[in-house]
Amino acid sequence: MLIKSAVDIPPSEITDPDLFARRRHFIQGAAASALASGFGLPALAAAAPQRGEKFPDIRKSQWTVDEKLTPYESVTTYNNFYEFGPDKDDPAKHAHRLKSRPWTITVEGEVKRPQTFAIEDVLKWAPLEERIYRFRCVEGWSMVVPWIGFSFSEIARRVEITGNAKYVEFVSLADAEQMPYVRVPLLDWPYVEGLRIDEAMHPLTLLAAGLYGEVMPKQNGAPLRLIVPWKYGFKSAKSIVKIRFVRDMPRSSWMKSAPQEYGFYSNVNPEVPHPRWSQAQERRLGEFLKRKTLPFNGYAEQVAALYAGMDLRRNY
Ligand code: MTE
Repeated sequence: MLIKSAVDIPPSEITDPDLFARRRHFIQGAAASALASGFGLPALAAAAPQRGEKFPDIRKSQWTVDEKLTPYESVTTYNNFYEFGPDKDDPAKHAHRLKSRPWTITVEGEVKRPQTFAIEDVLKWAPLEERIYRFRCVEGWSMVVPWIGFSFSEIARRVEITGNAKYVEFVSLADAEQMPYVRVPLLDWPYVEGLRIDEAMHPLTLLAAGLYGEVMPKQNGAPLRLIVPWKYGFKSAKSIVKIRFVRDMPRSSWMKSAPQEYGFYSNVNPEVPHPRWSQAQERRLGEFLKRKTLPFNGYAEQVAALYAGMDLRRNY
């Protein structure tokens, strides 16, 4: 995400993939090493994460695309997780401070059985599946990741949502002791995102506990995060501590920070430019040439019906 004036970050700190690549190039100096590491491909040795624990018994899923995977190293070193800093390599450098155990998730609001669950129990709700999804950031980069998780809809069965539940709000941890940038007003903390209830209940909407067969790296949102593959990446809240079923449309942190730029829906749409840049193309992490962005990030067949009759230019 490119943060605007409300935020105390100079333009030099804005980190789109090209700028990141140029900065990396400058740091690395020699053209040879720039070539070796690939244009825009993140590979800071200092930020290299430890490989995590493996999940046993992961099922394959029908909700999967047959596309070349983005390398683990790129997925885990080129991140947005502003609680750990605004630069792409900040999360991999600082997220080791996150304590992902013990961890609880509170589910409340328009439900008959509000509850606080231990993460260990949440992970037993449904068989864990591997789902290879396209993921498109609003900044113009994208990736293909084998996430591990289960459909968010499993949650509704546990807490019995009422007929008043029209939206779902996802709240991330905001603990300045673990997350140094929570002391800085980059965003309105805690990080909050929202979905309409039918979007949340769509089987593609994933609660992800891992990637590449392993527990979620902290910089990617351990221990549990959302993945909504037909929406821009910022909808996919990380390190979730609260899930609230609500009557009214939630105001996400990004809507509060720049309402003209980040709407509630944020469906990937090549025809609706961001006010400051086009959304027609994207660059896969690690690739040189850009590719065309697809409506709903290529998931139109599965999700377009959710928006039948809506003007998606107005509802951006
Ligand atoms: N969740 C929290 N709590 N904080 C964040 O800063 N960034 C969002 C989203 N979820 C963010 C977050 C944005 S802008 C993107 S593009 C994705 O996480 C990035 O996910 P990734 O780092 O796993 O690629």
